[in-house]
Amino acid sequence: MAKKKKQELKGQINFYKAMAVLGAIIAGTFVYMLLDSAPRLSAREFHDPKDSATQCLSCHTGQASNIPIMPHRRMDSCTFCHTPDKAG
Ligand code: HEC
Ligand code: HEC
Repeated sequence: MAKKKKQELKGQINFYKAMAVLGAIIAGTFVYMLLDSAPRLSAREFHDPKDSATQCLSCHTGQASNIPIMPHRRMDSCTFCHTPDKAG
């Protein structure tokens, strides 16, 4: 009797462990997708990944019509999300 109860409890614990792992994988996937949704910093002579946010904003705040405007609030680091492209 007591032994059977213990096994049932074990089964429940394993069920919740499996659900926790599944939840962690799904949450990780969504965080990855969020970070991946930012377009990459294209490799151009005017795109230096070491530039400060202020230098990026000097172009990306809409003075020039051929430069895409930053469509979100300003942040301290740009390359955290806009990872630099390797080539071309
Ligand atoms: C001299 C002006 C200038 C500066 C400085 C500059 N950019 Fe740009 N940026 C542009 C122009 C022009 C484009 C559009 C052409 C292109 O994608 O190369 C662009 C495109 C982009 C894009 C869109 C790329 C795409 O494929 O949609 C992102 C993101 C971006 N810049 C981020 C940044 C970040 C981050 C910095 C600072 C490290 C920065 N830019 C600095 C002029 C500039
Ligand atoms: C938290 C992540 C994150 C950070 C930090 C960030 N961005 Fe973005 N940025 C995005 C996402 C996501 C998009 C795409 C939005 C969309 O398509 O509506 C985007 C879009 C852009 C675009 C438009 C690209 C295009 O082709 O139209 C520009 C320009 C840009 N960001 C510039 C910057 C600059 C400059 C900084 C630093 C001050 C910066 N971003 C910091 C996530 C980020």
